[in-house]
Order: sequence, then structure tokens, then C-alpha cells
Amino acid sequence: TLGTTSLGYILALDLGTTGNRAFVFNADCEIVGQAYKELTQYYPQPGWLEHDPLEIWQDTCWVMQTAIENAQVAPSAIAALGLTVQRETCLIWDKTTGKPLHRAIVWQDRRTAPFCHQLQEQGYAQEIYDRTGLVIDAYFSATKLRWLLDHFTDVDLKNVLAGTIDSWVLWNLTGGIHATDHSNASRTMLMNLQTCKWDERLLDIFQIPAHILPQIQPSLGVFGVTDPAILGAKIPIAAILGDQQASLFGHGCDRPGLMKCTYGTGSFLVAHTGSQIVRSQHQLISTVAWTQANQSGIDIGYALEGSMFTTGACIQWLRDGIKLIKNAAETEAMANQVADNGGVYFVPAFSGLGAPHWDMSARGAFFGITASVQPQHLVRAVLEAIAYQVLEVVQAINASSSTPMGRLIVDGGACENNFLMQFQADVLNIPVERPVMRDTTVKGAAFAAGLAVGFWHSYEALVRQRQIECIFEPRSKSVSNFATWQQAVKRTLAWTD
Ligand code: G3P
Repeated sequence: TLGTTSLGYILALDLGTTGNRAFVFNADCEIVGQAYKELTQYYPQPGWLEHDPLEIWQDTCWVMQTAIENAQVAPSAIAALGLTVQRETCLIWDKTTGKPLHRAIVWQDRRTAPFCHQLQEQGYAQEIYDRTGLVIDAYFSATKLRWLLDHFTDVDLKNVLAGTIDSWVLWNLTGGIHATDHSNASRTMLMNLQTCKWDERLLDIFQIPAHILPQIQPSLGVFGVTDPAILGAKIPIAAILGDQQASLFGHGCDRPGLMKCTYGTGSFLVAHTGSQIVRSQHQLISTVAWTQANQSGIDIGYALEGSMFTTGACIQWLRDGIKLIKNAAETEAMANQVADNGGVYFVPAFSGLGAPHWDMSARGAFFGITASVQPQHLVRAVLEAIAYQVLEVVQAINASSSTPMGRLIVDGGACENNFLMQFQADVLNIPVERPVMRDTTVKGAAFAAGLAVGFWHSYEALVRQRQIECIFEPRSKSVSNFATWQQAVKRTLAWTD
């Protein structure tokens, strides 16, 4: 039914912030094998976050091998590999030894906030926004790469390569191909959004030598083949996408009017804007959705994005940090045990605030604590805050578009939480639609790779298979304290300035 004539499989890798996963799909796009490994988070200082690139690479090999074993398929039967990754996180490595020079600096890391403030004070904000579609923030890769280069001034730059996680893993998978795709490159703050090439003026501002950067290629297309020593077969790596863009692709959001929200480590609401760059007046960023070569050049799809940095990260903190809960699922029951938030409001600014505030100096807070507050109120306040953040971004999207958003399509770990999804529908006052397959990111990477090599022929047919598991309808009598929450947010701004 999907129009494929060949027998075989697609391998998809989703290398995310909290863990790395691999899935094997058959020709009917069913999952036949999978594997997951959680990734170590290093917090060398408050506000800093690093990953070990060698651990990412070793775990990538392990999840691929395990998923293939679980699927009981021959590696030679795999037609293509699709790769999707956490975005912005970057590193530099020595191409002669294959060793990273430092741990990767993760997208949530705030160490370059002072440098970003300096750039703002020097008046670069408008020019950088015009060239990249991005707001100056420590979130993006450019200032992180600058930090890394500043700390390795004695190395011979001839031997150094730089890149986001896709480039690092591609280089290792292929035994030396140094490339990235347009969606990941658009998050570095070094790519010109119009030309989709590294921008010389930006390389100059950030003092990044062009030769250390990967070659930018279309998201759908063959980047190289896997070294047979890794999986026992030469598998074409036929798609690379940033994880939020892969999820957009997996949901079938390929034209203006279609958007999705992923509740992962952070929440990312992304709206496809077609072949045009749409500029928001409301602090959303413009970015590449995905690209594909055509006969005369490249088809470029753009998107508007509201990036919210802390979602799963604050649930994880409830579990591992302050040990208020034993597992994430418990939050749903706890929130339902109380009639309301008990006057408690939470601001999830662990890594500053992203859209629409873009305040690197904000920090998290609970407000409204009284002696009657129970753990359930705190948990409920955290879930409510996740939904309120999304409401702020939806309001910004609506203000940037002529037609207001009619429904929200969701995916990601925290969308399992029925309390959160119902509360989200209530505060947005639109239905929230949850698909059966929540791993839309990995599915998007599989679709892209399968289509790029002609394993599948019709994107529409793949997307049509998508099934809705549940629609959360807004309840008319819901009471929302959004205005009070916004007051709480205001009080956390510029906290560390
Ligand atoms: O921009 C950061 C984003 O790509 C991270 O996604 O799924 O790892 O939280 P995730």
C-alpha cells in the first residue's frame, strides 16, 4: 500500500539530548526492532551542560546493532539510514586522531551568555537576525564554537573539524565524510537563511575559519555509506535532519498552516511556512524545515519556531533532582489529586527562557508557596507551566499569521501525560491531537531516508498511515490563571544579570 516494490528495511537513528535510539522499520513502515540508551549529562557548573561525544558515538553503534539484532534482519537488507539529532549542540575534534578536543557543549548550556550580551551591546542583533532568522542567544552553536576555539588556541587548526552531532556521527559512520544538512546548519547562527550557505560576514563576526566547518547538503539525499566494519554492510545515509524538523516531516506538516509541538527535553512548536522565509514580529525564529535537491537546484522549505527550553528537563528534575516523584508517569495522578494549583506557580527557566522572552539570565522559580502547599500542588504547577509556555508561543504564532491556529498536533515524551494534554487544550481553547505513534521524530527520519533512496515513493501515502490516538477537546468551563503565571515569569527575568 505504500508503493514500495523492494523488500527490505529502513534504519533510523534519533540522537537526542537525554538519550540515543535506533529503530528498524519494514516496508509497511512498522517498527520491527528498536533500542535505546540514556546519555550521561555533565553539569560542570550551574547553567553549563556537556555531553561526551565518544559516548554518543559508542551508544550510536550499540543502539544500531541492538535494534538490528532485535529485528532479526540482515544488515545487508537495510536500504537506507536516516539520521536525526538534537540540534545546536556542537564540538570540535582532531581529524588525525578522531578524538574530540573537549566535551560537546549542549544547546541548553548558558556559558556564552556574556559573549551574547556583548554582541547585543555592539549592535549585531538586527544584522544577525536578518542573515540567520535567529535571535542572539547562547542556545545556538556559533558562540559555543567560539568558546571552544578560544580554549584551544595552541592546536593546529589544519587538523581541526567542527560540527553539530549529525556531522560528528556522520564522520564516524562513514570514516571521514564531513557534512551536515541545511536544517542543522540553520541552527548554528553561521548559515545565511536566504542563500543556505555559510555566511562570510558571520564567520568573520564569530571568527570561525570556514575550513573547519562541514559541507552543507540537502536534508534528503545520500551523504555517504556506512563503513562496513561497523554494521557489516554499506548502508547509504540518505537523510539528515534536526530532530524538530524530522518530527515536522513525520507529522506530514509540509506546507503553510501545518504545525506541531514536541514535548521533549524542551518544547518546540514548529510551523511550516512553505518556500518563503516568514519573519515573526513576536520573537519566533525563522529556520529551515528541510531541503531536497531538484533538477535545477534545491527545494527549500522554511519554518517558524517557538523554542521553549525546559519541559521534560523539569520533570526529570522533580524525579532526579529533588526526588519529589519516582517516575514521570506519577505526575499525572498527583496533579489530579488536587482541585487546583493551590496558588502555586512555576517558571521553568532552568536554562534561561527561550521564545518569546529570550532571556538568558532568567532562572527557575516557584511562587505562591504557603504552609498548605502539598507536593501535588508543586507537581501540578510544573505541568501547568509547561502548558502556559506553549500558550505564549501559540499566541505569538497567531499574531504572526492571518488564520489562527485551529488545533495542536503533539508528540514527545510528556504528551503521554493526559492531565497536561487536557490542560493544554483548555488553556489554548483548541483541540489537542495526539497520534498513536509518539516517536514521530524517528519516524520522520525514516520517511526521509526511505523516500530519498526510492524505497518508498509517496510521502502522502506514508503520512496518510498516521493514526490519531486521542483528541483532547477544550472544556468550556476551564479556569485559567495564565495572567498570574505571566506575572511570575516577569519576576524571574534578568535574575542573574
Ligand atoms: O534545539 C534542541 C532540540 O533539538 C532538542 O531536542 O528532543 O533532544 O529535546 P530534544
